[in-house]
Amino acid sequence: MPRERPQPAPFEPASLERSLDRYLVVGLVFMALLIAGFVVYRAREPALRADAAQSQRVDYIKLGRGLFSTNCAECHGENGGGGGDAPTLNSKQFLSSTTDAQIEALISAGISGTDMSAWGLDYGGTLTAEQVRQVTDYLRSLEKNAPSIPDWRTGASADG
Ligand code: HEC
Repeated sequence: MPRERPQPAPFEPASLERSLDRYLVVGLVFMALLIAGFVVYRAREPALRADAAQSQRVDYIKLGRGLFSTNCAECHGENGGGGGDAPTLNSKQFLSSTTDAQIEALISAGISGTDMSAWGLDYGGTLTAEQVRQVTDYLRSLEKNAPSIPDWRTGASADG
């Protein structure tokens, strides 16, 4: 049987105790607000990122269109529409069978032994990795309306 301990007289005055309680409550409310803030931030973050990625894509497509017209159109046709000897890049067959990574690799490293030279800086070309990405985003943007061109490899255009 534990012995009853003698209770010491309260050390702190009641007013101090009340003020401490107030600080505790204010602290808890502040912490709850912070946590709520983090939750809201966390919930909005993916949408903000998606918006940023989307607007970057729109910019990249625009820049890529310009780069393509300057560097690639003479062989691959305006807007990749073919008409020469080089493959028709604006064709369902090419775009649906090739990933972005493959397109980037083809542009960067070129295809040795053909007229398709290496465009990436790392391979002695003139385009930065970002610019290769921009041209790739541009080509990808054509996919939605790309015509079916079975002879795309030999540069056939949509109208024969
Ligand atoms: C001097 C002409 C020429 C220029 C300029 C040129 N290409 Fe090519 N490109 C070719 C030829 C020819 C081929 C086909 C090579 C082969 O025989 O496989 C080709 C192939 C490609 C392929 C691979 C298609 C496949 O077979 O899957 C891609 C992608 C491509 N070029 C993109 C580009 C881009 C982007 C540019 C501009 C940065 C560009 N090319 C500039 C001639 C050219």
